[in-house]
Amino acid sequence: MKIDLRSDTVTRPVPGMLEAMFQAEVGDDVLGDDPTVQALETKAARLFGMEAALFCTSGTMTNQIAVRVHCRPGDDVICDQLSHVYLYEGGGIAVNALASVSLAQGVRGKLTPDLVRELIQPDDIHKPQSRLVCLENTVNKGGGCYYTVPEINAVRKVCDQHGLRLHLDGARLFNALIETGESPEAYGQLFDSISLCLSKGLGCPVGSLLIGSAEFIHQARRFRKLMGGGWRQAGYLAAAGIYALDHHINRLKLDHARARKIGQLLEELPEVAEIYPIDTNIVIFRLEPNILAADYVEELAANGILAVPFGKHLVRFVTHLDFTDEHLERLSELLSERVQRN
Ligand SMILES: Cc1ncc(COP(=O)(O)O)c(C=O)c1O
Repeated sequence: MKIDLRSDTVTRPVPGMLEAMFQAEVGDDVLGDDPTVQALETKAARLFGMEAALFCTSGTMTNQIAVRVHCRPGDDVICDQLSHVYLYEGGGIAVNALASVSLAQGVRGKLTPDLVRELIQPDDIHKPQSRLVCLENTVNKGGGCYYTVPEINAVRKVCDQHGLRLHLDGARLFNALIETGESPEAYGQLFDSISLCLSKGLGCPVGSLLIGSAEFIHQARRFRKLMGGGWRQAGYLAAAGIYALDHHINRLKLDHARARKIGQLLEELPEVAEIYPIDTNIVIFRLEPNILAADYVEELAANGILAVPFGKHLVRFVTHLDFTDEHLERLSELLSERVQRN
């Protein structure tokens, strides 16, 4: 039995999702007549109480299109130094939007009103113009920690005072919502645009959604096409998205409970120096200084446990739809065998 904890992107569609994909009514989405894509976009927009949505291939694409639509060349984007949009999207803010970045050093990747205020550029011809603030929820590099609506509201106020737009990288937003009990509508009211991933905790093979005003999504559709992201019978994939929104949100609690159990198992390992607080489905732990994460991950893989190095001494495990109680049981056995061997 392979224990794959590299990411929540490794899941395979469940039979019900595959069935929905087989049954999908499709058209040509570039020509604007794929009914299943339209149904998914409408469903997502309504869920958040926003005007429109756009189905895209990936979270990188939805984030990058959002930055491109919000910013003009020479603008400046405020985000945390740990944010995916800055760290892991190939320098896309510079490439796609010709914009610069001001990085905050938040706690576990979270921005606060003060951190944002400090990074707002003065009205000075030497400076780029602050335009956009990007938040990430949950924060991947922060170990799956999340914002609450009041925390975001405080950041929104600063944005309003300074004429800044606010974008959410909500790749794992539903993991946050299931913990806080807050509603998607509250998010729809706070953000100018929201990116949601269907291919992570929600278990779809492919796909992300960008949500915003009708005018914003109209512009976003242009850039999706320009990036080569216009797709044809995408309804087969959109059907998976509809299935996921209907069936895979509430079950995220199970992933969180299993992540916490993994945390308990890690506490027994002498090589683990620190475990980040486990808030959702991401477990990050720090190894003793004499152990390199890359070596450790290689050794785990040889024992049937797949993980990713997340820094020189940091390792990440992510729980997901295909990580069951049986896998947890097996993980527990494998880790105690390790302790006995060493
Ligand atoms: C927080 C966050 N945002 C965006 C992305 C990008 O998503 P994709 O891999 O679909 O491009 C990821 C992917 O891991 C992520 O963790």
